[in-house]
Amino acid sequence: MAKRIAVGNNKGGAKKTTLTVRLAEALAKQGKRVGVVDMDPQGNASRRLGWVDSPDNPPLTISEALEPENVADGIGAQIWQPIGWTAEYADRITVMPARFTLEDRATEAGHKGAWRRLAKTLKGADDHLDYVLIDCPPSLGHLTQLALAAAHHALATTEPEYDSVEAAVRYRDFVATSGDDLGNPDLTFLGVVVSAYDQRIGAHVGQLNGARKLFGDLVWGVIPRRSLITNADEYGQPLSEVADSSEVRGVFELLAERLVKEAGA
Ligand SMILES: Nc1ncnc2c1ncn2[C@@H]1O[C@H](COP(=O)(O)OP(=O)(O)O)[C@@H](O)[C@H]1O
Ligand SMILES: [Mg+2]
Repeated sequence: MAKRIAVGNNKGGAKKTTLTVRLAEALAKQGKRVGVVDMDPQGNASRRLGWVDSPDNPPLTISEALEPENVADGIGAQIWQPIGWTAEYADRITVMPARFTLEDRATEAGHKGAWRRLAKTLKGADDHLDYVLIDCPPSLGHLTQLALAAAHHALATTEPEYDSVEAAVRYRDFVATSGDDLGNPDLTFLGVVVSAYDQRIGAHVGQLNGARKLFGDLVWGVIPRRSLITNADEYGQPLSEVADSSEVRGVFELLAERLVKEAGA
């Protein structure tokens, strides 16, 4: 079984999808085999990895696999799809894409055993991978709970701004108190990444200090705010194809090394 890590924050724009996609890229460059599970109905991770839907011959995605009538042990094995990047390490990344209809799965939270649907889907379906990164939506509702019921670990990201740091704390505390209820008592919170930091902004300086006080050694690192990251996400590009990206690639590579250390191989 791969080590599964749910990347979350109880706020949109906290850089969850960027961290998920760029950690996947850095891990793959280090030779790891990585699966990205897109648990946000917006499907941003799927798109940024270059996955394109085929309306004429639509493949099974996580959105359908989690339907109560479809869900089954290991059905996830049928959902992994190649990503669209052509970088040499791209074939070590695979994606479980999402369509917007993933939103409908939240209304099925009352079905018997509903909270275990992603865990069932992944059962035996990620044995060929080293890591599975689950990109969570911004709420702590059912879709995030599906991710946390299936994950070994949770990792937060935050912008260095008050509302985002507060939402990262909510994610951390939710993880700490939900493992038992989700049938996953060994779930652990690994840490937080401070993303899109700009030292010229007073609020960022203050909130980075605040995050260090709130999370202590669990602050894994700081990703600088760089337009090349926005652009790479916008165009669905790997960072290795982006000019002048060596600084930010280095930051994500260090974070990937920390993940390997904390989550285990
Ligand atoms: N370090 C960064 N510097 C500048 N822009 C960033 C950085 N990290 C992420 N972004 C951009 O911020 C926006 C929000 O990030 P995203 O990952 O979609 O957030 P979330 O998934 O938490 O809603 C995206 O446009 C993304 O490209
Ligand atoms: Mg997102």
